[in-house]
Amino acid sequence: MSEQPENTAQPVAESVPPVTQRGSQRFAPGEGPLPDPAGSHHERRIRSFQPRRSRVTTSQAEALLKRWPDWGLDIDGKRVLDLGEMFDGLPVVMEIGFGMGEATAQMAAADPGTGILAVDVHTPGQGNLLGLADRNGLTNVRVANGDAIILLREMLDKDALDGCRVYFPDPWPKARHHKRRLIQPEFLGLLATRLKPGGVLHCATDWEPYAEQMLEVLSAHPDFENTEADGGFSPRPDFRPLTRFEGQGLDKGHVVHDLLFRRK
Ligand SMILES: C[S@@+](CC[C@H](N)C(=O)[O-])C[C@H]1O[C@@H](n2cnc3c(N)ncnc32)[C@H](O)[C@@H]1O
Repeated sequence: MSEQPENTAQPVAESVPPVTQRGSQRFAPGEGPLPDPAGSHHERRIRSFQPRRSRVTTSQAEALLKRWPDWGLDIDGKRVLDLGEMFDGLPVVMEIGFGMGEATAQMAAADPGTGILAVDVHTPGQGNLLGLADRNGLTNVRVANGDAIILLREMLDKDALDGCRVYFPDPWPKARHHKRRLIQPEFLGLLATRLKPGGVLHCATDWEPYAEQMLEVLSAHPDFENTEADGGFSPRPDFRPLTRFEGQGLDKGHVVHDLLFRRK
């Protein structure tokens, strides 16, 4: 990665004051994720995520302090990433909205030949995923902090990605919030330019109306084609583990749909 801030982190035991300050953890640049890395200069106002007050546990804070300087990056919109350098030449799949990261870590462990560029705004989840990667020796995961749209638009080259995963994106069920849903024609147009031809976008949701919307906009999009010959939903692939949000949806009796569309 170019222009990586110098690693100024001190050994965890000497530099961590977070234990008694849960929820108010702040990190120095280079030590942990910035609260709003792209700042307010970015024109995008309709966001697909809700800013949340974050409660960071001690172990999450320790993982962030230990691993952020090498495995984390802020989405500041100011530089183009060299994914080849970041992932030692591995093919790279981006995961948008990994939540607490358990499924991400499982997929990284099961497929060490693929680099995972995992993106979310949620600090506890970033710490959790870095802790899982650290404890399990997963060197093929990098954690990006901020809005995936800015990462795609300003920090990735054309044809940079081998795939993209969007598992259980926020469903934004109220009609007035539908504009916040991630899977929309404009997003797909941007993503198509960053995916290599043949790269697959894999979406999953337990929210039936969103599943229908995904199928509709993806099927209509000129840059994508359904991997299912019948043009419908896909069976859940073996490589996708059960995610935390999926488990909550299943507990409520929701039906889960997977969609796998290939960039033409
Ligand atoms: C409903 S959660 C699902 C988490 C996880 N995939 C799972 O299934 O357990 C959606 C996640 O997407 C993240 N998110 C939504 N829009 C995003 C964006 N534009 N950039 C980065 N993360 C985003 C949210 O912060 C949230 O953690």
